[in-house]
Amino acid sequence: MRVRTDPGRCGAAIPQVARSILVINGPNLNLLGSREPAVYGRSTLAEIERELAQSAARLGLTLQAFQSNHEGALIDRVHAARTDGTDFIIINAGALTHTSVALRDALAAVAIAFVEVHISNVYRRERFRHRSLLSDLAVGAIVGLGTAGYRLALEFAATYSAPPAGAGA
Ligand code: DQA
Repeated sequence: MRVRTDPGRCGAAIPQVARSILVINGPNLNLLGSREPAVYGRSTLAEIERELAQSAARLGLTLQAFQSNHEGALIDRVHAARTDGTDFIIINAGALTHTSVALRDALAAVAIAFVEVHISNVYRRERFRHRSLLSDLAVGAIVGLGTAGYRLALEFAATYSAPPAGAGA
């Protein structure tokens, strides 16, 4: 994660917690609310993003939200995060989680800390959903807690600060 630093006493850099959060949703998540409600619930993406914006305001965070059904657009948005001040990414990459080396590479390239969210418990579903190409790069994953997973990820992001270099996971 890129951590903003402010000069502290003696000029030492003091790591600051994440302040600007980017929420990315991948393919088909624009259909939340009507898409397989038994699996994904009844909340629309607009409702989820509105609630996240309210939580972000309470937590003193800046929030940006982006959804696309297109792999390249998602990759471009991840790249843009490198220079737009994003401190932390929350991503539900949808089916691309299980297939996209390119999205994985983009997240690795920008080196911004991220949490992976899945609304459904992918481990109780088809085997092809059990593999994530993102999880080993993520700080962590929230799986199967419904749309509350986004809010929980935001609360985590609000207090997250990167471990010192070389400290390991
Ligand atoms: C999902 C799980 C994926 O397997 C699926 O392709 C999605 C949504 C989830 O949020 O549970 O589109 O990421």
